[in-house]
Amino acid sequence: MAMVDIRDARKTYDGGFEALRGVDLQIQEGEILALLGPNGAGKTTLISAICGITQPTAGQIEVGGHDVVRDYREARKLIGLVPQEINLEPFEKVASTVAFSRGLFGLPKNDALIEQILRKLSLWEKRNDRVMALSGGMKRRVLIAKALSHEPRVLFLDEPTAGVDVELRRDMWQIVEELRQDGVTIILTTHYIEEAEAIADRVGVINKGQILLVEDKDSLMTRMGKKELTVELDAPISDIPQSLSDFDLTLGSDGKTLVYAYDTAAERTGIARLMAALSEAGLVVRDVSTAQNSLEDIFVGLVSDEQEAAQ
Ligand SMILES: Nc1ncnc2c1ncn2[C@@H]1O[C@H](COP(=O)(O)OP(=O)(O)O)[C@@H](O)[C@H]1O
Ligand SMILES: [Mg+2]
Repeated sequence: MAMVDIRDARKTYDGGFEALRGVDLQIQEGEILALLGPNGAGKTTLISAICGITQPTAGQIEVGGHDVVRDYREARKLIGLVPQEINLEPFEKVASTVAFSRGLFGLPKNDALIEQILRKLSLWEKRNDRVMALSGGMKRRVLIAKALSHEPRVLFLDEPTAGVDVELRRDMWQIVEELRQDGVTIILTTHYIEEAEAIADRVGVINKGQILLVEDKDSLMTRMGKKELTVELDAPISDIPQSLSDFDLTLGSDGKTLVYAYDTAAERTGIARLMAALSEAGLVVRDVSTAQNSLEDIFVGLVSDEQEAAQ
């Protein structure tokens, strides 16, 4: 059974805007799913629908087997939500605001657990500080601590690192990794491709209220990734010889580097054939290297294909 099971979820806002247009998504226990999409794609709407903050217009969403509308309380207990916007009580002290969040779920006090959470998030030293005295990054940590206070099985992080500095971003990734080791299922939204690439097991791409694909990160990168082979020639040439016109080659401005783009999914890469053709054309190869394009290239390609198709 999927930990989070979304079937044909739709959301039309008052005024008629369709923010979710039939989302199907299953998330297994213990995985880290990154939901990648540009601003306005529907990421926050989807999370809000799962967490019961907004009512889906149609479709069915279950968390841990509980319908999020019918069995709201049971479902919500399993969920920790770190919202996109910082929404903290400025005069509260760090430890008490986190303990208070736990109480909202009707759970008994557990000082040892709160201490453990605060330590994990490097907030223990700040436990008696007022929230308003904290930096932006520390406030984000408090949001995570609050979301963990009732020991959720699924944690939603809505753009956890938007606008934070590089150091904090890396800390966040570390925190996410530690939570995964505790068996927490994590869904994070981001428009930083680097983030999905760094921490996700699976990547979902969402655009205009629809999931364009969900796939294991590594296989996504192999399937869609184009590779480039850079061939360094011994002596410069002014043009690519006619005999090499079969190959997708680009000549560098120095006249000495040839870049060959090939599809990793293709049965044959054509590299052996290219090497033979180069030698037949009398070109001496000094060195070769390969590079694979990133998730970023794949993502930009997908979203722009979709935009072209819509026109
Ligand atoms: N309460 C609302 N009423 C009307 N439209 C909304 C509301 N909330 C969000 N939207 C619209 O729905 C779309 C998706 O928004 P959102 O889910 O916040 O996207 P994301 O989190 O991916 O940036 C946007 O076009 C946004 O303007
Ligand atoms: Mg959002």
